[in-house]
Amino acid sequence: MKDAASLASPAAYADAVATAVQAAAAYYADGTTPLGDDEYDALVRAIESYEAVHPDQVLPDSPTGKVAGGAAGGDVPHSVPMLSLENVFSAEELESWAAGLERRLGRPVDGWCVEPKLDGLAVAARYRSGRLQQLITRGDGLAGEDISHAANAVLGLPQQLAEPLDVELRGEVLLTQDQFDRANEVRTAHGATPFANPRNGAAGTLRAKDRPYRIELTFFAYGAVGLDDLAHTALLERLAELGANTAATTAAHPQHCATVEKAQQRVDEIAALRAALPFGIDGVVIKADSAADQQQAGSGSRAPRWAIARKLPAQYKVTRLLDVEWNVGRTGIIAPRAVLEPVLIDGVTVTYATLHNPADITRRGLLIGDQVFVYRAGDVIPRVEAPLVDQRTGDEKPIAFPDACPRCGDAIDASEQRWRCVRGRSCQAVASIRYAASRDQLDIEGLGGTRAVQLVDADLVADVADLFTLTREQLLGLDRMGETSTDNLLGAIEVARNAPLHRVFCALGVRGTGRTMSRRIAAHFGSMAAIRAADADTLADVDGIGAEKAKVIVAELADLAPVLDKLIALNVGTAVAEPAAAGQDADGAASPLAGEAVVVTGSMTGLLAALSRNEMNELIERAGGKASSAVSKRTTLLVAGDKAGSKRIKAEDLGVRILSPEDFADLVASYLV
Ligand code: IVH
Repeated sequence: MKDAASLASPAAYADAVATAVQAAAAYYADGTTPLGDDEYDALVRAIESYEAVHPDQVLPDSPTGKVAGGAAGGDVPHSVPMLSLENVFSAEELESWAAGLERRLGRPVDGWCVEPKLDGLAVAARYRSGRLQQLITRGDGLAGEDISHAANAVLGLPQQLAEPLDVELRGEVLLTQDQFDRANEVRTAHGATPFANPRNGAAGTLRAKDRPYRIELTFFAYGAVGLDDLAHTALLERLAELGANTAATTAAHPQHCATVEKAQQRVDEIAALRAALPFGIDGVVIKADSAADQQQAGSGSRAPRWAIARKLPAQYKVTRLLDVEWNVGRTGIIAPRAVLEPVLIDGVTVTYATLHNPADITRRGLLIGDQVFVYRAGDVIPRVEAPLVDQRTGDEKPIAFPDACPRCGDAIDASEQRWRCVRGRSCQAVASIRYAASRDQLDIEGLGGTRAVQLVDADLVADVADLFTLTREQLLGLDRMGETSTDNLLGAIEVARNAPLHRVFCALGVRGTGRTMSRRIAAHFGSMAAIRAADADTLADVDGIGAEKAKVIVAELADLAPVLDKLIALNVGTAVAEPAAAGQDADGAASPLAGEAVVVTGSMTGLLAALSRNEMNELIERAGGKASSAVSKRTTLLVAGDKAGSKRIKAEDLGVRILSPEDFADLVASYLV
């Protein structure tokens, strides 16, 4: 993407013009463009700035000053040019535009109308004696294409007006979100590729002639030729009276505002409603309301001087699909998730997006490496809509579908659209038991994947607590389970019963708590019963747990209550000392790492050589410190082993104390077990 902020040379300017012309051509043809709306706007702004400084160099095909960037045309002349709108991108720009208009008029504007900028295609609908005669695209503003064939699929565009008038209604045709979803269902059922976004779908649908299926669209009227001399708000009411749909039927309804401040407020309100609207808007339009103000302000060749579009950030962005991950939900549903090259959409960096299900991936024809349209609005989970097939390089790779459950390794039931582990909910049980038994948690040797599957299948175990009630007879009844393996497994389970509280708690796999956090929670509460009784407030007292995380943990604890009760009744995880006071170990001695925020990097040597990173972190926490993985201003100590790289450099830059593994081992010697 070009640096649109400034164009430094005639060649960069010419290049920018060529890119913009190409993008506008694709946008106005079928809505497919490799450039997002925000990037296009930025490019045109850069072109405008260059032209302001070098008026002698303006290229004839420059998109500035032209309706539709000069891209579209047609053979039906418009009676009155169909103009576009100038854009502003902030409240400040809107304010200075309004002040400019008032200066031009030499008086305050007599009220504003603020309304949604509908993200569709502008059309003119010609009526004679109240009957719809012809539907025309905007084209280049002077002439458009006849698209009358599409008129009967457009809701809100009456075939017959309520009065027998000769008039031309103007407005926007779009696909609402429901219409877009339905359109894509119909298209895929007919073997066609789904539309990438509603605007693209509206453009394609209006132009298409002989389709074997019907796609419904929606019209919103916001202007007319032949109903002059009405204030804009009155015109909108008149359009509705005549039977046309207007934005008055929506939550983002047009509103008369007496002052620019009130208009700004309505702009903010409409912007805040955006995510909840059942159709797309790409901005808010602010219009001088009175006919007198409009007439006096007049129009330029591209846009009226009495109206402006306050653009909102694009909700569709183009980025690259890097990978697809398969995640197993609580009910065993195996859902694909797109891993994306991070992209900023409306102020949020999007790295993951939902892909619904495998059939959906196939329907959309996605490949790894594709440039894709990603949609994000409000709190909606971002989703990948479609690939930009024209942008393919040939290096794209097919998406690999899993042939076994990525969580428990058992088979996949692919008979429905949404794939599911054949174990359904008990996939979770197998996975949670495998997790609980693993080395870093309860370290139960002999309880690997196959054994966990066997125990769940035989209905002997549904959760971690059930492990502690297993009997010798039950285990001997299992396939390939001899006396020795049985005794070994029971022995390992007995050892686990006496594991310290933090390990037992960690074995539960509570969301939001890893090993370090489990250690802190165990130290804070001291017993499983106290953890079970914790509420969000008490949890938030634990170092590193904020209000949000506390809520998540409380919900998880509620979910796990039956398991916690069983563990408490079975005396599992009681092998822990009373919680230590801050800065002291359990015996009351000052902890060597009290108040220290410690990061470990490089390979450990000497006494610490055999410790995994997790065991190092446990050691730090045991010795009263806080372990973290990244060096920051808060870090007070770096343990730097062999081949320590960027973390060491950063710590040096920040003046953080650095110790070798040997010196650190001396410091925490009494905690090395
Ligand atoms: S007024 C002379 N009002 O935005 C008045 N346009 O980017 C010109 N649009 O060409 C248009 N919602 O296609 C107007 N409420 C609205 C609009 C609107 C969407 C479109 C229209 C226009 C384009 C400019």
